[in-house]
Amino acid sequence: MSENTKNEKMEAIVSLAKRRGFIYQGSDIYGGLSGTWDFGPLGVALKRNIMNLWWKMFVSDREDMYGVDAAILMNQKVWKASGHVDTFSDPLVECGNCKARFRADQIDVSKCPTCGVEGTMGEARQFNMMFKTNVGPIEDENSVSYLRPETAQGIFTNYKNIVDCFYPDLPFGIAQQGKAFRNEISPRDFIFRSREFEQMEIEYFVNPNDWEAAFDMWRKLVWDWCAAIGLPTESVHEDEIPADKLAHYSKRTVDFMFDFPIGREELLGLAYRTDFDLSNIQREAGKNMDYVIKGTNEKLVPHVIEPSFGVERALMAVLSTAYTEDEVNGEKRIYLKLPEHLAPVKFAVSPLLKNKPELVAKAREVYSMLKKKHGAVMWDDNGNIGKRYRRQDEIGTPHCVVIDFDTLENDTVTIRDRDTTEQRRVAISEL
Ligand code: GAP
Repeated sequence: MSENTKNEKMEAIVSLAKRRGFIYQGSDIYGGLSGTWDFGPLGVALKRNIMNLWWKMFVSDREDMYGVDAAILMNQKVWKASGHVDTFSDPLVECGNCKARFRADQIDVSKCPTCGVEGTMGEARQFNMMFKTNVGPIEDENSVSYLRPETAQGIFTNYKNIVDCFYPDLPFGIAQQGKAFRNEISPRDFIFRSREFEQMEIEYFVNPNDWEAAFDMWRKLVWDWCAAIGLPTESVHEDEIPADKLAHYSKRTVDFMFDFPIGREELLGLAYRTDFDLSNIQREAGKNMDYVIKGTNEKLVPHVIEPSFGVERALMAVLSTAYTEDEVNGEKRIYLKLPEHLAPVKFAVSPLLKNKPELVAKAREVYSMLKKKHGAVMWDDNGNIGKRYRRQDEIGTPHCVVIDFDTLENDTVTIRDRDTTEQRRVAISEL
């Protein structure tokens, strides 16, 4: 794909997301707040479908997983022990001419990308990406806290609670979904790099001797996840991170990259975090993090495999895979070829004519019946049938049901398929 085509596709997705009620710029009405996004009714539904599928696959359907939902605000000692206060930073450079600021590792520092003047960039300095705040009415060093930059630490701080309450067999995992905040120097590319976003993370605790097998198991499960959200295998790639580029806590990381319209970028990460976090907690909090292997007196601090998923990146990968243009009856058509289990609306129900009370009453009956059965069903009687189909295609509704005069005679309806646009006549009882 050429650069222009890529940008056009990205712009088309952003425009559709806004036009159809998926995603809006945060605080748009006041001129926006960079790096923040608001999810509209269809965006929330799509996001929930992705998050619920993840929870089902990795928590409810498994015997070895425990879910938690920890507080976003945590004791500042958490972030000192985890290394985030000292090392969670990006290199910041400022242009001496126009004062624009950039991440030094994302630009050619010889020339300012904003004003185009050469040789104006100052020295890079480390900028900590955590949002700092104060808890309680007194603003001093003791009341400092941070909006969590990863959900992972809320899992590590609950490891002992889970072991004490449930004494699970090793290996076992703790999972969490929730907001994370990073004061990114250059938020960019729609929801790809935001300042407020959502993560779905697992810390999988293993005997240190078994970490490689667990790492491989999670590699396979990540591929299963990508398939479950409908990403084509050929668009997902593993990227082994070289030793000198690993995060401060990792001994091995494989990033899963996806061919987004903006290029090949990180979708999610899989890291071997060793006992880095539990040992830090043990040292800094003075609490024992030993796990006693069942049936023995053997104690160990488990090691950790961490699959870390970004919700917005999963959603952006799903949207860019689904976005399709074709031609129907000589006219350009845009539709979202979403997997049915992710589609925000599964059925749209319409009366053929909205000024015929008998058709509307029958359509309402069918709508209520489907709504009870499937939940995600939309009533749509705006404009003519052609316009309704186009609108439903754009939001990825797999089935449009139309109630017409034949329905009143024989209790059948037409059902139109989003991808083929084919219409079939079926009995209401078969819907
Ligand atoms: N606990 C490990 C951790 O947080 P990370 O690679 O920094 O690792 C994990 O983040 C995932 O979170 C990324 O692969 C990405 O999907 C998502 N993510 C990270 N920063 C993000 C941002 N600024 N905007 C949107 N998603 C982000």
